[in-house]
Amino acid sequence: MRKKILAANWKMNLTHSEALSYFETFLSEIGQVNDLEVVIIPPFTAIPALVLASEKMPAIRIGAQNMHWEKSGAFTGEVSGAMLRALYVKYVIVGHSERRMLFGETDEIVNRKTKAALEAGLRPILCVGETLQERDSNLIEKVLRKQISEGLEDVAPKDQPEIVVAYEPIWAIGTGRTANPAEAEQAHAFIRSVLSELCGAPTADRIRIQYGGSVKPENAEDLMRQKNIDGALVGGASLDPRSFARIIWRTEAALS
Ligand code: PGA
Repeated sequence: MRKKILAANWKMNLTHSEALSYFETFLSEIGQVNDLEVVIIPPFTAIPALVLASEKMPAIRIGAQNMHWEKSGAFTGEVSGAMLRALYVKYVIVGHSERRMLFGETDEIVNRKTKAALEAGLRPILCVGETLQERDSNLIEKVLRKQISEGLEDVAPKDQPEIVVAYEPIWAIGTGRTANPAEAEQAHAFIRSVLSELCGAPTADRIRIQYGGSVKPENAEDLMRQKNIDGALVGGASLDPRSFARIIWRTEAALS
């Protein structure tokens, strides 16, 4: 049984004090979290405050949105995996489509980050997904296969189950357009088959695959009911603590 994982990707939003008041509201909304893992992924500046605030809540983890692949050195503006791990960060997003499109991250860079994250003791959330043009040209499988196989190249078998894959069709990110549950499930099943080729079926069965792209309380339950959808990476709707809490409830409902 794969434990569902719901992650809030705040992107470049919320100061550390806004993050703390968000967290207070969020906690009073969600109550007890059972059977799933919740990850809040704020900008770097809010990580220390949220790590402290969530200390006594094992179901809630704090993540980071990016990291550099080198351990240290002359890389102005960058943050290493070891620096994140020292703050008790558990997850780090790698290869988000915004990083790929706006900051020129290639599959090779994504692979270096994935390996460096694992080496630092972090769990990478490896984002993959096609553009609308690629979908319309029937290239979904080709694109996903390349992003996954190059992203995971040379990852040691013992580390493979630590990875979370996030399927985020680019046309669904921040657009209000979601892949319908059947479309999403089809892509997730394909991703699992590629993982199976690369890592073997038992490992592929353990790797969690999140869906991302305009997830909201209204569509969460149907998505989370799909066999190969093991959670969500939520952007816009996670910026409101009440709406992220409702997504968690809808996921719990899908489990029951
Ligand atoms: P969205 O973003 O939920 O606002 O579509 C998801 C993401 O980019 O991770």
